[in-house]
Amino acid sequence: MVNLLKDRRIPQLATNPRSRISEEFDRIRLNIEFASYEISTKTILVTSPGYNEGKSTVIANMALNLAVSGKSVLLIDIDVKDPSVHKIFRVKNTVGLTNVLSGQKNVEDVINQTDNARLKIITTGPVPYDLDALLQSRKMDELLSRSSREYDYVLLDSPPVLEGETAKIVAGRCDGAIMVLRVKRTEDEVALEAKKILEMTNTKLFGIIMNARRRSFFSRKE
Ligand SMILES: Nc1ncnc2c1ncn2[C@@H]1O[C@H](COP(=O)(O)OP(=O)(O)OP(=O)(O)O)[C@@H](O)[C@H]1O
Ligand SMILES: [Mg+2]
Repeated sequence: MVNLLKDRRIPQLATNPRSRISEEFDRIRLNIEFASYEISTKTILVTSPGYNEGKSTVIANMALNLAVSGKSVLLIDIDVKDPSVHKIFRVKNTVGLTNVLSGQKNVEDVINQTDNARLKIITTGPVPYDLDALLQSRKMDELLSRSSREYDYVLLDSPPVLEGETAKIVAGRCDGAIMVLRVKRTEDEVALEAKKILEMTNTKLFGIIMNARRRSFFSRKE
């Protein structure tokens, strides 16, 4: 897997399965798998109250961890205005989700392979003028239901809950959401506000991930 350590702004992947970071993602995966005995946890939105709290870092590592453990995973970037997934996995973002939703492309035309055969990616594609309408369209529901039949997990990298409409529109269409909170950065009131909004959109909150609990999270030897 590519080494992204040099570019500090691009979220990083923990590629050593024996590292402490990978162990954290093992725990998250086991929690999801455990919950799936009782409820459907196939389509999962990963979000957070505000910017830069680690949504993309968490979801990319979750996706990779699930794939390494043998699950088939489709990672969809729905942060159309500020996409990251293509940067993390170093693929182009010339076509993607928005082209499928607007009927210009078929799903199979926008699926990217990664270094792990079980992990596939759909990048955002270009910003359309009617993004909210596209995300609320029947095509979005079809994409989610079709991919949840074809993959073990469908993970959606979302913009913040408290910024724009995307997270609110898509959250309720997924089986549930995971909320990332960044230690020492996310304030309690905004976390509660984001939780309230997810409840209002009838979203099941699967759990909360406390990101960057220790300063040495990513500087630790992998
Ligand atoms: N646990 C961590 N330790 C150190 N750096 C981190 C950690 N989590 C995220 N980062 C860094 O913080 C920045 C923001 O992370 P990321 O892009 O994952 O957040 P985000 O919530 O997806 O942001 P956005 O709101 O822009 O989508 C990135 O540079 C990432 O590498
Ligand atoms: Mg992000």
